[in-house]
Amino acid sequence: MNVRIAPSVLSADLGRLKEAMAAIERGGAEWIHVDVMDGRFVPNLTFGAPLIRALKKVSNLPLDVHLMVAEPEKYIEEYADLGAAVFTFHPEATLHVQRQLARVRERGMGAGLALNPASPIGLIEEVVDDLDLVLVMSVNPGFGGQRYIEASSDKIRRVRALLNARQSPAVLEVDGGITAATIRPAWEAGADTFVAGTAVFGEADPARAIQKLKQACTIAV
Ligand code: DX5
Ligand code: ZN
Repeated sequence: MNVRIAPSVLSADLGRLKEAMAAIERGGAEWIHVDVMDGRFVPNLTFGAPLIRALKKVSNLPLDVHLMVAEPEKYIEEYADLGAAVFTFHPEATLHVQRQLARVRERGMGAGLALNPASPIGLIEEVVDDLDLVLVMSVNPGFGGQRYIEASSDKIRRVRALLNARQSPAVLEVDGGITAATIRPAWEAGADTFVAGTAVFGEADPARAIQKLKQACTIAV
């Protein structure tokens, strides 16, 4: 299994978007993670379609869009038209989760569900076959720069077991507090894709920071 890094644009300097995206491409980032927040589902407000449009102009990397919004279904059409690759939402944010997952796939995007630290794995159990990605939140969503919640590693292990038992090829992504120190336990627990904001854009050399994250998973100890 390969390590996939998805730097979170939330921590990038939006005034220098082009340079920031060039740096992460140089460092070998596979995806760009886009945190859409509405000030209702989470206590913070960020960006939406205009930033996705801007990112499309400066990078060819797939856009991994994470919607921390109420009624995420309102954005499926628009984000598909803008060229988002993955559309991930929280199951508590909408009433008919399976219908929305199917709509996301019909529009040609990967369908993802995100689990908050207190959200039980049971929320995804009945829809495993409708999923292309499971996002385990290792912080409570809303802000970058928080600490990795240790219990997340055990949850990742249980999600991995569920995906294996159901022979699901879904991506298992972790989001929040990922650093060169916390990425290893998350990787060993079975995650394959890692969102990193502060650990990439908070460093003087984001390209090198991505390489260090990957090495932290692969070096023998
Ligand atoms: C948290 C967001 C994350 C955030 C991660 O609400 O979903 O994607 O940008 O930032 P770091 O890596 O700094 O914890
Ligand atoms: Zn996120």
